[in-house]
Amino acid sequence: MKTRREFLKDTCTTCLGTAFLGFTFSQLTSCSSLPIYKTNLSQKMVRVPVANFAESNLVIVRDLQVPFDILLVKKSETEYNAVYMKCSHQENPVTATKTGLYCSSHGSTFDLDGNVTKEPALKPLKKFKTQLQENQILIDLNS
Ligand code: FES
Repeated sequence: MKTRREFLKDTCTTCLGTAFLGFTFSQLTSCSSLPIYKTNLSQKMVRVPVANFAESNLVIVRDLQVPFDILLVKKSETEYNAVYMKCSHQENPVTATKTGLYCSSHGSTFDLDGNVTKEPALKPLKKFKTQLQENQILIDLNS
């Protein structure tokens, strides 16, 4: 028979574990719902084939040489936004969803253009210039 203290300890551990797993699962779900394109940086430019947008207007671009992912948003057939997924509040990674981005550190949210929709962040997320060239979107990390 467990003592009251042991019962509370076990119950709290289970609750914490469940809460942690639930949080982690929700993070993974929201990440995995958007396609991820892995690329290789070349001369501070990232190249993403337009074909990646066949089924989604949003693609997460990942390059191991770039510290944070980039959310590439198709605005029209010729216009793409490249939003750096680094929170403007305290430089933590943000998570992209189909409707915007959020930072789990302190709760800031951003629209798909990187504009703040909920503080504490006050500045928009950094955006890189893009250009369309021969069925590829070029993201200029110098911009
Ligand atoms: S680091 Fe993102 S809200 Fe604070």
